[in-house]
Amino acid sequence: MSQTSDRRRILSGVQPSGKLHLGNYYGAIANHVALQDQGDAYYFIADYHALTTVQDRERLAELVRDVALDYLALGLDPAKATFFRQSDVPEVTELTWLLATVTGTGLLQRGHSYKDKVANGITPRAGLFLYPVLMASDILAYLSDVVPVGKDQVQHIEMTQDMAQSFHEAYGCEVFRRPEALMAEGAAVVPGTDGRKMSKSYSNTIQIFAEGKPLKTSVMGIVTDSLGVDEPKDPEACAVYQIYKLVASPEAAAEMATRLAAGGYGYGEAKKALLAAVNEAFAPARERRRALISDPDYVEDVLRAGATAARSVAREVVGRAREAVGLARASVTDT
Ligand code: TYM
Repeated sequence: MSQTSDRRRILSGVQPSGKLHLGNYYGAIANHVALQDQGDAYYFIADYHALTTVQDRERLAELVRDVALDYLALGLDPAKATFFRQSDVPEVTELTWLLATVTGTGLLQRGHSYKDKVANGITPRAGLFLYPVLMASDILAYLSDVVPVGKDQVQHIEMTQDMAQSFHEAYGCEVFRRPEALMAEGAAVVPGTDGRKMSKSYSNTIQIFAEGKPLKTSVMGIVTDSLGVDEPKDPEACAVYQIYKLVASPEAAAEMATRLAAGGYGYGEAKKALLAAVNEAFAPARERRRALISDPDYVEDVLRAGATAARSVAREVVGRAREAVGLARASVTDT
């Protein structure tokens, strides 16, 4: 986790805007854990971003703690990756402003994620509109080379490339690195229980750490078409199968596809198979999470140590950006 390492820098974040779900896991977190062995990894809990949808301080604190526990239980190793809270590095909000001053509003207006959120009823406040600028700041402040994200976030990385270029052109400098998005192999947008993208904002998730009745209720609630048990079904058009093939082994997934296509296999049975597969896949992580809950000091220590390491990188980079625009390299309160 050396900061002077010339290994490629990998960075990503997840919002504590609700309990983490299978879309987060298969779209991003599984890849984050795998990549911690392949570069200088920085992962953070995007609490500033979450303020665009969570405006309840107790709930926010609880969700931040949950995301920290979830990541550690799912295999993030603090000896390999720098893990921190976004808001512990306030320099990113400063860089957000510097980037906002070189970013055209047209670029932000074209944002799919912004348009989807507004179309799905989230109030279009300035923070939501500027969400991609804060995200660009996260990426650029740590000189990230590679940003592992789900498909829905790729446009934000492209916007980040544009913002870095606009900044360099406006000020005739080269402060940032050009980041590239990295998607998990075979990545798709994981569907939610209502067939839309699985999302914390749409209440259509299957939570990674749900167990027992709540888990059963979400899995059995996946919306399907009205084909009867005997009728042949198209697996690719079925959200149950789309999720099952991520969770189960390739052999088990192939078997479900064959049974659906043949007819005589109902959605109810497919859902039961999915429920069993989720329970099996996440049993070890649930055990680890239970152990971590009893050690809150450890979790807090990990986040603090991560913030110290991350902040020293961001201070340096944001200092160079300040200098490029003609501000003093550090604010007076830092000197
Ligand atoms: P968030 O919390 O919305 O999503 C976290 C990660 O999960 C992926 N994801 C999905 N992948 C596949 N199918 C789905 N249904 C699905 N839902 C979510 C997302 O693509 C993401 O990788 N804006 C970021 C958080 C962020 C960030 C950053 C990421 C803030 N700053 C800097 C990278 C770099 C987000 O979408 O969070």
